[in-house]
Amino acid sequence: MVVPESKYLSPIWKDGLFNNRVVFVTGGAGTICSMQTRALVRLGANACIIGRNVEKTEAAAKDIAQVRPGAKVIGIGGCDVRKPESLAAAADRCARELGSLDFVIAGAAGNFVAPMEGMSSNAFKAVMDIDVLGTFNTIKVTMPHLLRSKDPRIIYVSATFHYTGMPFQAHVSAAKASIDSLCASVALEYGPRGVQSNVIAPGPIAETEGMDRLAGKDVDSTAFTAQIPSGRMGTVKDIADATVFLFSEGGSYINGQIIPVDGASWRRQSSM
Ligand code: HXC
Repeated sequence: MVVPESKYLSPIWKDGLFNNRVVFVTGGAGTICSMQTRALVRLGANACIIGRNVEKTEAAAKDIAQVRPGAKVIGIGGCDVRKPESLAAAADRCARELGSLDFVIAGAAGNFVAPMEGMSSNAFKAVMDIDVLGTFNTIKVTMPHLLRSKDPRIIYVSATFHYTGMPFQAHVSAAKASIDSLCASVALEYGPRGVQSNVIAPGPIAETEGMDRLAGKDVDSTAFTAQIPSGRMGTVKDIADATVFLFSEGGSYINGQIIPVDGASWRRQSSM
């Protein structure tokens, strides 16, 4: 898939910004994380993306590698963040084959829309396990590599709807709140060893799996957009640009923060 650069990166960033950096991305074939990875690779990074689906993950890796001649992008499918052994093997392979592991994007997530009365304990647990335990496992297996990096940084992809709660998303709201909390604990515990740990909290981002599921493909986009204080839907480029900033030298003193990239949507939501 040829994606024009203007779709995933603003033209303000310096070529080679992330030369000699390696990013490890869980959920790396998903719409948001693949664009974050694309932007970092375009700016010089090499990448290792992890996913459960083998074909989807390997295809996404090949696709992302096209954005820069000489880019190395490894796709490791069949890897479940709920299973620390397979995740640890992936992190080891990333560091071995690409030379280091400097940045982590913890993006693997599970989501379905369901009322609480239609949600079994196991359904709630499935999402908590993918999102929360999966994020904890990702931190655990990548940290030994990160601590060997000159510039170790983590971004967690969270959400905003747990600030207020969200019907039919009890499981995901609880999970994303826990991820925000893990981010803060990592900043406090590992900040003294140079690790930067921040959350990006996407708001309503167009053309993403999450948005399609939550709003439905038939949503009245004019009425929906009218509710967003910034007057437009977000784009995957908004998330990728925020990622580049946080991983760049310009973002280096931002630590332990939760950064909504949402056009002020959650503030509107909470004032209604
Ligand atoms: C109610 C459901 C359900 C549904 C599954 N379950 N779908 N319950 N409504 N629509 C229940 C099952 O019946 C089962 O409970 C339990 O959940 C576990 O289901 P499994 O299929 O066995 O689990 P698993 O194979 O691990 O799949 C996990 C999953 C699935 C989360 C359920 O949807 C998944 O793999 N998702 C990964 C991809 C994904 O969701 N991506 C979305 C990313 S977007 P019982 O009781 O029957 O055993 C995103 C955006 C966030 O996250 C928000 C952005 C703003």
